[in-house]
This record gives sequence, C-alpha cells and structure tokens, in this order.
Amino acid sequence: MKTTNEHTNRTAASFHPRAAADQAAFAQSTPPSSEGNGTESAQVRQIYESDGIAIGSLPSIEGKKRTTGRAALFIDRLGERLASERATTRLYEGLISKHRAPMPIGIGSDLVELGRLEEICAEEYRHFMLLNEAMVELGGDPTAITPSANIAAVICEGLPKVVQDPRTTFGQCLDAMLVAELADNEGWAVLVTLAAELGHEELAGQFQEAWDNEQEHLATMRELVLSREGP
Ligand SMILES: [Fe+2]
Ligand SMILES: [Fe+2]
Repeated sequence: MKTTNEHTNRTAASFHPRAAADQAAFAQSTPPSSEGNGTESAQVRQIYESDGIAIGSLPSIEGKKRTTGRAALFIDRLGERLASERATTRLYEGLISKHRAPMPIGIGSDLVELGRLEEICAEEYRHFMLLNEAMVELGGDPTAITPSANIAAVICEGLPKVVQDPRTTFGQCLDAMLVAELADNEGWAVLVTLAAELGHEELAGQFQEAWDNEQEHLATMRELVLSREGP
C-alpha cells in the first residue's frame, strides 16, 4: 500500500517556472465558458434572500405559546451545544483510533497518553448528556436540530473529514481538535451567560463546570499542537 510519503507534491508552481508559464498560457487560451463575475452571483443570492426563507426554526408544540427573545435564544444555543458536544465526542473517538494507528499515521501519538484522550472523550460525552437533561428540563426537545445547531454543523463539517481521513496523521488531526475546542469554549461562554441572565442558577453552575473542563481540553490541544516535531 502507498503511503503519503511516496507521493510527489506538484503544487509549487514557482519551483517549476517553465511548467507554470505553460499552465498560465493555457489558462489564457481557454476563457471562462460563462460571462460575468462575483457581482452577478451576489445578485442571484439576493433574489433568494428576498424570499426570506429562514435556515430553520425552534420546534414548538401545537397550541403552546412560542418562546421568544433571549429565552428562545437560550434553547437555540442549547441545541447548538448539544449537537456540538456529540460531534466533539465523535472527534475524540476518531483521534483515539488515530492514536492506535501504525506509523506513519500514528506520528505524534507519543506526545500524549491514550488515557488523557479517553478522559477528555468521556467528559465530552458527559457534557452532551448534561445538555440533554437541561433541554428536557426546560421543555425543549433534545432531538431537534435548532437553527444554531444547523449553522454550527456547517461551520465544523471539515473537522471529521480531517480526523476520519485515513491519510492524516495523529499530529495533523490535532489542528482539527484545536478548532473544535476553541468553538466549544466559546459555546459554553454563551450558555453560562444566558443561563445566569435567565435565572437558571443551577444550570449556570453546571455549565460553568463544563466550561472549566473545556479550558483544560483547549490547553491540552494547544500544547500538543505546539509540540509537534514535523509536518
Ligand atoms: Fe465538551
Ligand atoms: Fe472539549
């Protein structure tokens, strides 16, 4: 089986000026098949935007008054965190599998004990379960994809692609984990603020504990990214 090390990177155009000039000449000789530029595509988007179709909404029970304002935002963000914590748990499961991978895919796994990754993974799962319970307690539905959950999924959709790619090394996957932890930290910051503001003191305390965990996760991932010895 071929490994990444056997492939030649042919993307450095300036290392091969003659081939780059040939490529530029070819591009000049084949003009785009359609007219226009970015302005036209923005105009097309504006047509769709004027339809005013939202990316999603909060689920509601028939006959029950809809939650609005910051209380609705709280449910929306709870849904976002719930989906994101589930996704982060899956990311750590992927990273743990990379930790066990043979060389060269396992490169970098000696930087951290497997047990530490399993511990973080278990904390992510606990965060997910905490949000599940909080959502039920507040009368929401933990299975619902809220608008913010939808957007967060799109923002982070590249992360599992990196971790699950059989060609990426353990060390390379750490960049994806760092992005996930940065997003998790910001997500908990919002939830702690909203919970306290809306008078959910107990939840605010539990969310703060989860955020404390996330700060430790972030510190671990930052340190690992900084400790890598090669590309
Ligand atoms: Fe988490
Ligand atoms: Fe985390």
